[in-house]
Amino acid sequence: MIFYFTGTGNSLYAADFIARAQGGDRILSIAKEMERQHGLCRYELGENEMLGFAFPIYAWAPPKIVLDFISRLEVKGNPYVFALCTCGDEEGHAAKVLNKALAKNNLTLNSVFTLVMPNNYIMGYDVDSEKQEKEKLKTAEKLLAEINKVIDQRQNKMLTVPGKYPGLKTNVVNPLFNQFAMNTRHFYADDNCTGCGICEEVCPVHTIKVTDKPSWGKTCTQCLGCIHRCPVRAIQYGKGTVRKGRYHHPILDRPGE
Ligand SMILES: Cc1cc2nc3c(=O)[nH]c(=O)nc-3n(C[C@H](O)[C@H](O)[C@H](O)COP(=O)(O)O)c2cc1C
Ligand code: SF4
Ligand code: SF4
Repeated sequence: MIFYFTGTGNSLYAADFIARAQGGDRILSIAKEMERQHGLCRYELGENEMLGFAFPIYAWAPPKIVLDFISRLEVKGNPYVFALCTCGDEEGHAAKVLNKALAKNNLTLNSVFTLVMPNNYIMGYDVDSEKQEKEKLKTAEKLLAEINKVIDQRQNKMLTVPGKYPGLKTNVVNPLFNQFAMNTRHFYADDNCTGCGICEEVCPVHTIKVTDKPSWGKTCTQCLGCIHRCPVRAIQYGKGTVRKGRYHHPILDRPGE
């Protein structure tokens, strides 16, 4: 069973790749599961079934919604546990944060993998060039095939990319990000908006309501699904995103995603 959270599809792709390679393992959306079950989120694993988590790195740690889900998670048994951390460059000490959260549920990470994939953080940087994007996707596909072998053999492996000063980034910058950046204050739709409603549909926390144009409530995971998936690039975040590119993984073009 693989739980995933995604804004622009990279983490869904990683979860889907492993699930298929494992012969049709179950993949479940963390956002949907948190809505479906109130209080504890309970799951029974099959015999020898493993437990996986796939998510993007936000400010050198797992997204808060993923940690909140883990705090409500109840899984019986002692499964093999792995994590696929997708990021633009580096994950800091995200694996340590995840392991600490899992330990409270008596679960231990056996393997953790950093997958460097196209960057979607257009508040600070820009999207990758088309060439870089293609290269990252190709490398990620190869790495996922290797990861699948590791998982298949239930090996313990830490294949992470912490980057420089991971302790400082994860322990000091991440809490500041969670405190000050997780809001919708700077989102707006410009005159290109057609009122199509896609942003409302894709928001994992249902904070967007479209009448003529979208309006944002307060809750936000900063997944950036809305800004990247608007088909006419009408959504902006302050002034900084007007000239930035947009990205989503092709898996999100699959019917039903
Ligand atoms: C709010 C936010 C913070 C991010 N922080 C990091 C980071 O600390 N390190 C990094 O390499 N990439 C960072 N990224 C880039 C994403 O982790 C990366 O593009 C990821 O693969 C997106 O996954 P998704 O398509 O499943 O949403 C950040 C993206 C967002 C939206
Ligand atoms: S997705 Fe874009 S065009 Fe569609 S309603 Fe939202 S902002 Fe407007
Ligand atoms: S408002 Fe946009 S960035 Fe925030 S959770 Fe919804 S889709 Fe993601």
